Amino acid sequence: MPDEPLHLETLSVHAGNDVDPGTGAIRRPLVMANSYALPDDPSELSWSGTGTPLYTRNGGANQGWLEQKLAALETGGDPGDVEAVALATGVAALHAVFFTFLGAGDHVVSSDVTYVAVFRLLTELLPEKYGITATLVDSSDLDAVRAAIRPETRLVHVETPANPTTRVTDVAAVAEIAHAAGALLSVDATFATPVLQRPLAEGADLVVHSLTKYINGHGDAMGGAVIARGELVERIRAEAMVNVGGAISPFNAWLIMRGSVTLPLRMRQHCANAMAVAEFLAGDPRVAYVAYPGLPSHPQHALAARTLDGGFGGMLAFAVRGDAAMQNRFVAALRIVTSAVSLGHDESLVVHVAPGGERDRFYPEEFRKWGHLRFSAGLEDPRDLVADLRQALDQVG
Ligand SMILES: Cc1ncc(COP(=O)(O)O)c(C=O)c1O
Repeated sequence: MPDEPLHLETLSVHAGNDVDPGTGAIRRPLVMANSYALPDDPSELSWSGTGTPLYTRNGGANQGWLEQKLAALETGGDPGDVEAVALATGVAALHAVFFTFLGAGDHVVSSDVTYVAVFRLLTELLPEKYGITATLVDSSDLDAVRAAIRPETRLVHVETPANPTTRVTDVAAVAEIAHAAGALLSVDATFATPVLQRPLAEGADLVVHSLTKYINGHGDAMGGAVIARGELVERIRAEAMVNVGGAISPFNAWLIMRGSVTLPLRMRQHCANAMAVAEFLAGDPRVAYVAYPGLPSHPQHALAARTLDGGFGGMLAFAVRGDAAMQNRFVAALRIVTSAVSLGHDESLVVHVAPGGERDRFYPEEFRKWGHLRFSAGLEDPRDLVADLRQALDQVG
């Protein structure tokens, strides 16, 4: 690689890739091995170590190349002492952060709106199993974050933009609060990806991505990653990867590495499509509300404009005026958009969540009233997406 800083498009193509010394292939091969040849004298090896090729749960070839790429993307090509660890899923990565950096008696402050597994881990599993306590707060409210800090707070965790409300948190401001309290800040930036935001540069200590979403982008693999200073990543590897075991499979690492080549290009289209869809929906009286950081009506629109670079993401939420049966009829009437969980795929996806769930109390009033349709804008032509939404509204309206 040349010395001058490379742009993200270039890094997405080249970082982590190289000529395969064995075959001369110009792509990294898929190494479907779970074990690596031991040295003649293995007596000095640590079986729990991660430094030498040993066993794929301790680190393998495809994982390593993907990790190089993720560290490059997250740092704009200048990783310094920043490293990435790739794990089996986004939730494995989130769990790895909590498991590694929290112990019995510790306290965590977290966004109240997060991916559901984080809610379950922080409110049920970690308190019951490990005696870790959590306070959930509106992380866009800095006073609320500050007020939630306790002497035993070791970690602040935020998800931004948050799933499903798209709430945006000021990472730099929360980093200051966390660090003043001697706590680490972890940021789940799955919705933003390194294309739109690099939380480490804003002061976060740990960035988590579900690779299953935009970074892979094709809906055919699962993975997760934590990117942080090497000393923190090494602790995650040693404690959570080797001994809890959520290692990513070489095949998924290879697929995600391939998918990530087009990440910056895809994010541009996801953002443009989401904006087109959000603007169309916001202008239709049959739609009850639209939550999208790119709309001036979004409560953190100004913050999003300042902190997200090049777009407002591919995710939005809305509801059609009507009850849950109406939302279901609307979804059934869609011809291009697929009803499925997950997000960040090439195809547009929608999922209907009716009101009344256990996390409703954290959602804005309109979510509680109408429920929500979480919409992941895919890579289709935006005119086709808008036409599909319009014909579905016509059918149910
Ligand atoms: C913001 C966010 N973080 C983490 C996850 C979990 O990722 P995975 O499904 O790869 O475990 C998701 C899944 O939807 C998510 O939306």
